Amino acid sequence: MLDLVLAIAHHIFVFVLFGIVFAEFFALRPGLGRDAVARLARLDLVYGIDAGLVLIAGFSRVVFAAKGWHYYEHNAFFWAKLATFAVIGMLSVPPTLAYLRWQNASAAPDDRDVKTVRFYLHLELALFPLLLAFAAAMARGYGEFA
Ligand code: HEM
Repeated sequence: MLDLVLAIAHHIFVFVLFGIVFAEFFALRPGLGRDAVARLARLDLVYGIDAGLVLIAGFSRVVFAAKGWHYYEHNAFFWAKLATFAVIGMLSVPPTLAYLRWQNASAAPDDRDVKTVRFYLHLELALFPLLLAFAAAMARGYGEFA
């Protein structure tokens, strides 16, 4: 039962995470006003909280769910998934810093800055499918090493 609850929670948190990055990417257009910047900063806060929930649900699955830590510690796709998740986390730092900067600035963000942040979000979105592929492979026992 715990396995099922954690799996459901994990999937929901993951969907929310993808949805938020997509929403930020969609909302980021040249000519952003103050309201739009405030909305982006709020979305980004939820993104940070949800990323933490993904980690908690993911690690809970690793430790408490059906297969156990021993299964995953010897799986290359598990480590590849974690590394990809970490890279996505790092890519999300510049957008967060930009939203905070924009919120505290008196002028609207300039279009070049907006484009740069969009680029980071684009990279994050591009890495998401890798996470899904690694997850499916590790769940099926591919990539096991001694
Ligand atoms: C945004 C990040 C993540 C995405 C998109 C993601 C996606 C998925 C998906 C789609 C599955 C189901 C695989 C299947 O049954 O075919 C899964 C399972 C799982 N994920 Fe994640 N995950 C993410 C982050 C994490 C993290 C950070 C951890 C661990 C720290 C983790 C640990 C697990 C575990 C243990 C399973 C169960 C695999 C099994 O059935 O053996 N995930 N994940």
